[in-house]
Amino acid sequence: MEFEALKKAGITNLLSTLGKSISLPQGIFYWLGRAKKEADINATIGSARGPESEIIDGAPDTPVTFYLPSLRPAFAGLPSEDTFAYAPITGLPDLRKAWRNWILRKLHDARDRVDPCLTLPIITPGITGGLHIAVKLFVDRDEVVVSPDRLWGNYRNIVERNIGGRIETFPFFDGERFNVRGMQRKLLDTLENQSKAVLMLNFPNNPVGYLPRRDTIPALVQALIDVVETSNKSVIILVDDAYEGYIYDPDAVQRSIFADLCDAHRRILPIKLDGASKEFLFYGGRIGALSFGLPAALDVPRDQLQAELDNKIGAIIRSTVSNCARSVQAALVKALGQLDTVLAERQNVIDVLARRANLLRTLLAEARLPQLKPLPFNAGFFCFCDVDGISAEALADHLMTRYRTAVVPTESGKVNGIRIAFCSVPETQIPALVQAVLSAVGDLAAGS
Ligand SMILES: Cc1ncc(COP(=O)(O)O)c(C=O)c1O
Repeated sequence: MEFEALKKAGITNLLSTLGKSISLPQGIFYWLGRAKKEADINATIGSARGPESEIIDGAPDTPVTFYLPSLRPAFAGLPSEDTFAYAPITGLPDLRKAWRNWILRKLHDARDRVDPCLTLPIITPGITGGLHIAVKLFVDRDEVVVSPDRLWGNYRNIVERNIGGRIETFPFFDGERFNVRGMQRKLLDTLENQSKAVLMLNFPNNPVGYLPRRDTIPALVQALIDVVETSNKSVIILVDDAYEGYIYDPDAVQRSIFADLCDAHRRILPIKLDGASKEFLFYGGRIGALSFGLPAALDVPRDQLQAELDNKIGAIIRSTVSNCARSVQAALVKALGQLDTVLAERQNVIDVLARRANLLRTLLAEARLPQLKPLPFNAGFFCFCDVDGISAEALADHLMTRYRTAVVPTESGKVNGIRIAFCSVPETQIPALVQAVLSAVGDLAAGS
């Protein structure tokens, strides 16, 4: 967008440096906008969607954003105090406690090891808000933040436009696996010029829908230990667990790598960012959580440490959003009080997404077009196909105009490919979706 109207209105030259540089990325919103108008198959929407009947027996076939039915009544009969009053800056104490228990439950076999490390979660405005707070707290202007090259596009606005940091990437995959060596090299290079490094890890990943295999995790943790020992410097790891729990592969690690990073080394500081948006299909609730994994043997009184972290982060929250929606927090406390019901409802959604992912993987694997390389995917909401010899944007445009099928293309640095959001495509449409992609690639490869 050229912001001509702002220029003509004499506002542009009044803007701060951030005001001048910040803008919503055109790519994704352009494709979402076109999809709404032009597509019959829409694989651009990053929320789990489909016919309501797919998740609730007896419901109509009308497409909806999937939701957990028991969250609806959680809002009914909230006391006025839980609806109209301000929430505490760092979140309702009952939610903070309940979320901590939820984290420990999610980390199942690692629970006892993580428990002494885990701080009380601080409630944030979604995971986006949590990421923003963490980056603000740890990243200075011009400082490098390391990330795999497949990353959620919003990281750029958070780290670069808002904070003035710089994201440097390494290739996500080494063959079919997460690129542990590439990550290690990039961190060591970064630490040659910085006193510490911040690493962002997002599994299951947006846009590649990948969760490392179980046997990758020890190597990943060891690589980070080697980095901090070789450099004698610290690494802060922002563990973006937005899609935690959506796993369709028994060989993938079945819980967040936060567990493995806790107490891995005294110079490794993992920060877990999770939240209700995807985990409880409550995108509009805008509730996330930020928790630290501190070494268990740290010789500092825990209460004091918690109070000081609350103070620092509370100051950022109070000076930006003040606090997070109270009624949503109160409803989540109720929902977490009947977790077995909530999780049974969520399992329906996970099963629906697993069927879509498995079908999509099978059909893409059968295709074997030299120009289309589906990257490994086993979790989350998305899959990504690298495209060779054809512009990804031209492919997405052709798919839309000729086949009324919408995907989001990425052309950035060495990445040229399309993201397919299977989370929003009903299983019945997946064969047609794959056929459209294959036909469009075939058309463009043949020059038609
Ligand atoms: C990787 C990743 N992290 C964080 C978020 C944001 O989550 P929230 O809606 O809780 O802010 C998203 C949303 O698309 C995402 O893909």
